[in-house]
Amino acid sequence: MAVPILIDCDPGHDDAIAIMLALASPEVELRAVTAVSGNAPLHHTVANAIRVLDHAGRPDIPVAAGADRPLVQDPFTPGDVHGPTGLDGPDLPPPSREPAAAHAIDLIAEQVEASPEPLVLVPTGPLTNIALFAARYPDVAARVGRVVLMGGAAGFGNVTPNAEFNIWADPDAARRTFTSGLDVTMVGLDVTHRALIEPSHCERLLRAGRAGKLTADLVSYYGRSHTGWAGSPIHDAVAVAQVIDPGLLTLTECHVDVDCGPVGRGRTICDLNGTTGLPANARVATDIVPGFGDWLSDRIARLD
Ligand code: BDR
Ligand code: CA
Repeated sequence: MAVPILIDCDPGHDDAIAIMLALASPEVELRAVTAVSGNAPLHHTVANAIRVLDHAGRPDIPVAAGADRPLVQDPFTPGDVHGPTGLDGPDLPPPSREPAAAHAIDLIAEQVEASPEPLVLVPTGPLTNIALFAARYPDVAARVGRVVLMGGAAGFGNVTPNAEFNIWADPDAARRTFTSGLDVTMVGLDVTHRALIEPSHCERLLRAGRAGKLTADLVSYYGRSHTGWAGSPIHDAVAVAQVIDPGLLTLTECHVDVDCGPVGRGRTICDLNGTTGLPANARVATDIVPGFGDWLSDRIARLD
């Protein structure tokens, strides 16, 4: 039976590819998409989520807008990697519909309660919506299957030497997510920097269906931030992939905390060696099988 999932995201080129991966994979059923401020302001990320679902011909999947700013700190929507709209590059039409009237955290709660099977949350943006959901609906949060998030790294970052973007954009929300009692799997840069789509994959995807063409167009823009790399890391797709095929990643249980202070702000402190003696509160992805780009592009090529 397909695992029901909800993607909470900030599209975002790799978020868009993560959504298409979910739609292309019978192992999961995408029940809803919620948006958060992150790669771009909220009005762009929610519109982009709808534009991607429009492109894939999925008007049936509900989309809701969530937090338009982090819990505590000032908003940070950089615009350098994904462009000012969050999805610069491809020529996608405006969204065909408005988002749902419900706030994202209410839609998450509704979907968790309505699902006979435990729903898996896949956050691929800052964790503001997830922290707010867990605070507002603790009883419903206890019924969530797992949270498989893209974010963090064990010991390095991509915004600062310490911090990965999704954690850095709202460290307070990330800290709450890791310490809320949710069953958290952290898919960080340790593995996503080895999850590359290379030019040869894009050449093939350009000749595939509409999703393949969109993916190639997305990577064509996104790749400008990865000059000198063998390809572009499709970070967010790796979190969705972990739900589709758990054998792709090696997970290590450990205690994870998030630095919310001024020096190491946004760092995910992963106690992989058990130094603190604190009980594990997460599984951290520490290895990925080779050939993720082949696996991902095979999947995307299946979707028209
Ligand atoms: C994460 O930050 C964003 O730029 C991407 O969409 C991804 O979720 C990678 O650090
Ligand atoms: Ca993202």
